[in-house]
Amino acid sequence: MKIFTTRESLGNYLGQLRSKAQTIGFVPTMGALHPGHLSLIAQAQLHNSVVVCSIFVNPTQFNDPKDLEKYPRPIASDIEKLETAGCDVLFNPEVKEMYAGNEHWHLVLGELEHLLEGEFRPGHYQGVTQVVYKLFDIVKPDNAYFGQKDYQQVLVIQKMVQLLNLPVSLVMCPILRETDGLAMSSRNIHLSADERQHALILSRSLNYFSDSFNKDNLFELLETCKKMISSEPGVQLEYFEAANADNLHPADQNTENIVVLVAAKVGNTRLIDNTILGNH
Ligand code: PAJ
Repeated sequence: MKIFTTRESLGNYLGQLRSKAQTIGFVPTMGALHPGHLSLIAQAQLHNSVVVCSIFVNPTQFNDPKDLEKYPRPIASDIEKLETAGCDVLFNPEVKEMYAGNEHWHLVLGELEHLLEGEFRPGHYQGVTQVVYKLFDIVKPDNAYFGQKDYQQVLVIQKMVQLLNLPVSLVMCPILRETDGLAMSSRNIHLSADERQHALILSRSLNYFSDSFNKDNLFELLETCKKMISSEPGVQLEYFEAANADNLHPADQNTENIVVLVAAKVGNTRLIDNTILGNH
């Protein structure tokens, strides 16, 4: 695997490949790689000549400085995992390589910016779009791969691609889970053994919702699931919502495609999960 830390060296290398008509698949990450991330690499390998992964813990998308500080950064084992997965290129820049100094970034993302995650993480999606725009600009991928795990992030990036007319196709990949149902996440390592058990209430409540859902019980089910989560020890519910999968407006009986999304703090660790109804 080739490893680059500067925009220029990566840009030059990929420019040469592009001139030989090679297609580029791109998987942006913040590292602490787990099988969920590696599943995106595997998807990218199916459809592109070259796969580029980036590892960059992007400071502008963290609204909580403590979360940024304690974000895991196991770069040596990440490199090993990418080598084993057969990834072709890693881009692993320092913060100063990505941010020159005082920069202004604001995209008009509309309601998507303030709903759900946006309400609990103000400014988060401005930071995400800022860094993903920069990464797309350097890598110039044909296809870019994102996980359904961060469903709202996929919609936000789709919106950016439309607004700025960027020449990239986005691919949303399914959520990889531990065998007991917990959605894989770089933050799971912060959970104590007890918290790890209590965290299962997120995927359990989503499963309960999708198994019990019929058009008439939507609001009742939402209440039941909120109660299930709130009564789990050590778990502090932020939101549990059924939303229109296209725009994240609250769903009602007539909504065709529904995604159910949950966010909660388990101890000090904030976790998110979701499920698209009718998908399993
Ligand atoms: P990060 O949290 O490292 O996630 C990188 C990619 O892996 C995202 O597209 C995310 O949705 C996907 N992913 C995470 N957990 C997954 C799982 N259990 N199954 C499948 N895919 C999963 O998301 C980010 O980084 C950042 O916001 C980024 C886009 C890199 C911008 O900084």
